[in-house]
Amino acid sequence: MKIKNICCIGAGYVGGPTMAVIAQKCPEINVTVVDINEKRIAAWNDNDVDNIPIYEPGLSKIVAEARGRNLFFSTDVDAAIDKADMIFISVNTPTKTYGIGKGMAADLKFIELCARQIARVSTSDKIVIEKSTLPVRTAETLKNILDNTGNGVNYQILSNPEFLAEGTAVDDLMNPDRVLIGGDIETEKGKEAVQALVDVYAHWVPNERILTTNVWSSELSKLTANAFLAQRVSSINAMSELCEKTGADVNEVAKAVGMDSRIGSKFLKSSVGFGGSCFQKDILNLVYIAKSFGLHEVADYWEQVILMNDHQKRRFAANIVKTLFNTVSGKKIAILGWAFKKDTNDTRESAAIYVADYLLNEQAEIVVYDPKVKSEQIYTDLDYLNSRAEKENRTHVTIVGNPYEAAKDSHAIALLTEWDEFNELDWKKIYDDMLKPAFLFDGRRLLERKTKEKIGFEFYAIGN
Ligand code: NAD
Ligand code: UGA
Repeated sequence: MKIKNICCIGAGYVGGPTMAVIAQKCPEINVTVVDINEKRIAAWNDNDVDNIPIYEPGLSKIVAEARGRNLFFSTDVDAAIDKADMIFISVNTPTKTYGIGKGMAADLKFIELCARQIARVSTSDKIVIEKSTLPVRTAETLKNILDNTGNGVNYQILSNPEFLAEGTAVDDLMNPDRVLIGGDIETEKGKEAVQALVDVYAHWVPNERILTTNVWSSELSKLTANAFLAQRVSSINAMSELCEKTGADVNEVAKAVGMDSRIGSKFLKSSVGFGGSCFQKDILNLVYIAKSFGLHEVADYWEQVILMNDHQKRRFAANIVKTLFNTVSGKKIAILGWAFKKDTNDTRESAAIYVADYLLNEQAEIVVYDPKVKSEQIYTDLDYLNSRAEKENRTHVTIVGNPYEAAKDSHAIALLTEWDEFNELDWKKIYDDMLKPAFLFDGRRLLERKTKEKIGFEFYAIGN
């Protein structure tokens, strides 16, 4: 089966970069990325590629090369579905905020809407691919909806979870550790569909890195991978607190532990807590699934990863209050970095939001600088927590365009995202412009203690 037209529903952090790379690597395939968010699609189509809605190193160059050739962004979802042989569903699957499973289960309403739209519009056979992260056995639901339309169209459903990390999305897509494809390998049509998707990736991914499994293993492997990664961060963060009490240094511990080839060195960087749109939501989803099968010990085991992460964010903020003589009321505190990690403008579940919220509850005056996050996003993030009136957030939080302005006349700085540029700042100038004693809290282990203490800072770093 030769694929000529691909449609991807959802032009977000996954749909946009993934399809841009497929289009670049497969010039003979037309790739159309569709979304109901008109503003987002307009930004993807902006004449100036630097204005595309997602900041990822290297992405704008790829979009510039493929857009208009075989990569298209559109709001005409029906037309793109109808034309496609292969449809990726890459819409958001957030944690449910209502009803059964509230605060835990994945909300699949956007997925279901896509399935119903595909069923309504399609007039020819389709391969439908789960690109979004989904609870195990969602393919069954999709199949049920698609097969019950009675319009004679044959649907093959594949699971092809995405493993890219933000900030390194282009590299991850170009050179993936593995591509996972789950399908109905027991049937001829199922095998053909799997092969069609293998052929797309085989344009640039070596065969031995393309893994095929049954659908349920593929769906569950994605949740498992995220749970294991997040668990490592919570494990090292748990040790960071013990390090602070005992004189051990969490970086030294992580290095010593990570050099054991059975453990490995990645994902052992202690921090103010993991953020991002997926770790928390995917683990909560896993916990919910385990509970719904009555597996309470399994559920409790994984839930602890989230509880540890919440504790890490809270104790970082509490330590600022305690260190500033038990009150930050009316004190100016500069936050450097709002994104959940460097090299992305994504702020979903960023630790910075929770640290700022904690400090605002203690009546601090917050000033934020982030090189890529827009002011309106910062206010939206705080408003979403509903901790105080939106007007209060605008009164007590100021957003500025450079780190020096943020730090000027502040009592303390909290460094919350590991942007490279924070290492190159003129820290002497920052110190001179601050109130004394000048406190510096490094939530990322980015800065060198010795040089900062030499300047005169009261320096605090996670796990040290
Ligand atoms: P996102 O919110 O950035 O993008 C999703 C897009 O889907 C939005 O623009 C939304 O408007 C659109 N959408 C929703 N319903 C639609 C519909 N019915 N028709 C058309 N468009 C619709 O989300 P994301 O970060 O790209 O994540 C998408 C999925 O991929 C999630 O399941 C997530 O867990 C998974 N994932 C994300 C990452 C990541 O790094 N962000 C990595 C791997 C997997
Ligand atoms: C993560 C996974 O790494 C991807 O494989 C997965 O596809 C994706 O989730 C997803 O499903 O959404 P992402 O959240 O984009 O990717 O970024 P990570 O690099 O995993 O970082 C997540 C959070 O953990 C960040 O806040 C980061 O600062 C933190 N982190 C990461 C640490 O605190 N320490 C570490 O050692 C690593």
